[in-house]
Amino acid sequence: MRVAMIGTGYVGLVSGACFADFGHHVTCIDKNQEKIDMLRSGGVPIYEPGLDLLVARNIREGRLDFETDPTQAVREADVVFIAVGTPSRRGDGHADLSYVYAAAEEIARVMDGFTVVVTKSTVPVGTGDEVEVVIRKARPDGDFSVVSNPEFLREGAAIEDFKRPDRVVVGTGCERAREVMRELYRPLFLNETPIVFTERRTSELIKYAANAFLAMKITFINEIADLCEAVGANVQEVARGIGLDNRIGKKFLNAGPGYGGSCFPKDTLALTRTAQDAGRPLRLVETTVEINDARKMRMAEKVIEACGGSVKDKTIAVLGLTFKPGTDDMREAPSLVIIPALLKAGAKVQAYDPAGISEAETMLEGVTFVSGPYLCVEGADALVIVTEWNEFRALDLDRVKSALRDPVIVDLRNIYEPEEMARRGMKYISIGRS
Ligand code: UDX
Repeated sequence: MRVAMIGTGYVGLVSGACFADFGHHVTCIDKNQEKIDMLRSGGVPIYEPGLDLLVARNIREGRLDFETDPTQAVREADVVFIAVGTPSRRGDGHADLSYVYAAAEEIARVMDGFTVVVTKSTVPVGTGDEVEVVIRKARPDGDFSVVSNPEFLREGAAIEDFKRPDRVVVGTGCERAREVMRELYRPLFLNETPIVFTERRTSELIKYAANAFLAMKITFINEIADLCEAVGANVQEVARGIGLDNRIGKKFLNAGPGYGGSCFPKDTLALTRTAQDAGRPLRLVETTVEINDARKMRMAEKVIEACGGSVKDKTIAVLGLTFKPGTDDMREAPSLVIIPALLKAGAKVQAYDPAGISEAETMLEGVTFVSGPYLCVEGADALVIVTEWNEFRALDLDRVKSALRDPVIVDLRNIYEPEEMARRGMKYISIGRS
């Protein structure tokens, strides 16, 4: 099959490379000439383990190419994906769909023969209908069908998530489009991946409902962690004890400093707006958004308390800046709230992250960025673990202790064991473990 992928951001590039690896011919399209040049010469503009090799192999084998002009690829395509960004609109939190509609207009201009137009970007319920109107208006005679096919990729595990998903969701009422989508995902069905065929609006809502549910699950365990601290219980054991119940499930029960990233904060907010507009407010999701925002700030207070009530003129070492490990993405990272609050309280902050420093430098002022974890703790009054990179789990803790002026560790990701830290004579504060 021939596939055109409009938008070569995170989702577009990963999906394009994976479809090429399934054996389809894929052209990834982006207006950014620099990005296209980089991709053509084998470079990958995002940090995703394994993606560079996947892109290189598929370019070499002639199944993957890159263009700034969509004309030829869209004309020849059986399936055109819209994988452009849908950021939060400033002011009201709704998803900004201007890039989606611009892509629809471009597709309408050049498509030829029966074309399945697929929204891959996370779009509010009803966007597929709008995309159909936009294309129909530009091409009243057009032979096309608009399908919703949301992505469920986690950064850092996106290729695995694409190739071995829990399910594929396809929203369309058109049998012909359904057949095209079945053919496109055929390699997955050979592996018995469930496919959920449904109506377009339902498919659009599945994506938001999934993300909101996961965000609620994290927020629930975060609140239980706070309760554990107050009543002398252990949140990790509570998580294990409830997670072994299959109806609850073990995943996404790690308490921490609050969720971040490019999806959960944006999608939970957009869903609450959709629900309010529909006159059916989602109070659980609204509360989740509020609790999560407040939690990031509360984490800064936790650090200040651990430092005896003040961080004025103290040096705080921060390990981990990205919203989670395995990515260089800083979007909505807890560090972006915690660090400015510490600076405001008079602290000096020195920070290290294995992948996020260059992006962090543009977002955080007044921080000293260093090139390794031991340099980071040198002479600091306390160490704060904000992101659970594996390399922090294996630190030489004796070396850390002697580098710190005061052996205080605030571990917001529970990567160390309280008993071991006590044995080493450290003051150790973690999440939900007293
Ligand atoms: C998420 C969804 O998982 C994915 O399906 C969707 O398509 C895009 O959004 P991503 O944002 O890459 O993926 O990361 P994810 O691994 O889901 O983590 C999101 C945030 O939740 C991170 O800040 C992470 O630290 C936090 N988290 C996750 C927890 O605090 N505890 C957990 O148990 C799991």
